[in-house]
Amino acid sequence: MTDPAPVPQPFPPRIFSGIQPSGGLTLGNYLGALKRFVEKQDEGIQTVYCLVDMHAITVWQDPAKLRHATREAAAGFIAAGIDPARSILFNQSQVTAHVELGWIFSCIARMGWMSRMTQFKDKAGKNSENVSLGLFAYPALMAADILAYKATHVPVGEDQKQHLELCRDIAIKFNNDYGVNFFPVVEPVIEGAATRVMSLRDGTKKMSKSDPSDQSRINLTDSADDISKKIRKAKTDPEPLPETLDGLKDRPEARNLVNIYAALAGQTPEQVIADFAGAQFGTFKPALADLAVAKLEPITTEMVRLMQDPAEIDRILGAGAVRADALARPVLDQVYDIIGMIRSRPR
Ligand code: TYM
Repeated sequence: MTDPAPVPQPFPPRIFSGIQPSGGLTLGNYLGALKRFVEKQDEGIQTVYCLVDMHAITVWQDPAKLRHATREAAAGFIAAGIDPARSILFNQSQVTAHVELGWIFSCIARMGWMSRMTQFKDKAGKNSENVSLGLFAYPALMAADILAYKATHVPVGEDQKQHLELCRDIAIKFNNDYGVNFFPVVEPVIEGAATRVMSLRDGTKKMSKSDPSDQSRINLTDSADDISKKIRKAKTDPEPLPETLDGLKDRPEARNLVNIYAALAGQTPEQVIADFAGAQFGTFKPALADLAVAKLEPITTEMVRLMQDPAEIDRILGAGAVRADALARPVLDQVYDIIGMIRSRPR
């Protein structure tokens, strides 16, 4: 993806994105999403960022751990550069418009559309009779997250592309079914060198917080020592780095480390290859480890500091939820009106 394509009027540009607080944040979340959320905030477009705790419970979560992970993710956002005064930062369950619109979208989306979601198929595996109904309906709630704000652009990693296509289909079908031009057809914003960060143990698998092996990922809470060790032990092949990017074809682990370096350094993979052409991993890995520590350690340190005052984090999320609600509630009121619901309760 290049620059966000313009969405036709009357929809002013607005960014929405979310991350599940179902475990710690990984380097994949940081490079694929969070780092880019900060860039968007700094471009001066209105930005709304959400910790999607309702999505997290599509798989059972220990309540104490969920609460902790939600605060820790909020601390990660702020430590990475999200300014709660400029961006709206909140957790999903505090703004009930999401689930209300999620239900309405469950009645718009078709079973066939949902059945084609590859992430559901991957997560459910052979166990599809036994996973929650919420896991199946998950992308309808995700569409509601976005469209409750009439967001026009959604920065995400590559793995969310199909869910955003579904969000577009839902917006189009809603508009057609009710003869309105009410919801924007969102543009996915999938940009940069690290739209799909891969596991450090297997270059064909996505880096994920749910991978059983902690060695497969870098967590934003890892110490400098852990980060260095994980990178030095990352799976690679015996060849040196090639002269051109083409030489990384069929070398998924090497390609992944080059992409990570590029994203952390704010360079293109071509620039990284130009600088390290012919280098052995014995040279490249320590350089990558130093770069990763230099970029991530300040974030980790700030996260730890912020986590010492959970009440302040809760206050920030609450204040963000009030601002989010002020945007979403009028949209929901209009939706209820469009679909024919009587709203006569005195307020
Ligand atoms: P989640 O919580 O799995 O991931 C959050 C964001 O991080 C990106 N990401 C990655 N990017 C690159 N490489 C990786 N290995 C990697 N792993 C994760 C994801 O693409 C995502 O952008 N369904 C969403 C959460 C969500 C949402 C939304 C997103 C709910 N509602 C509305 C956008 C808009 C999810 O599970 O992301």
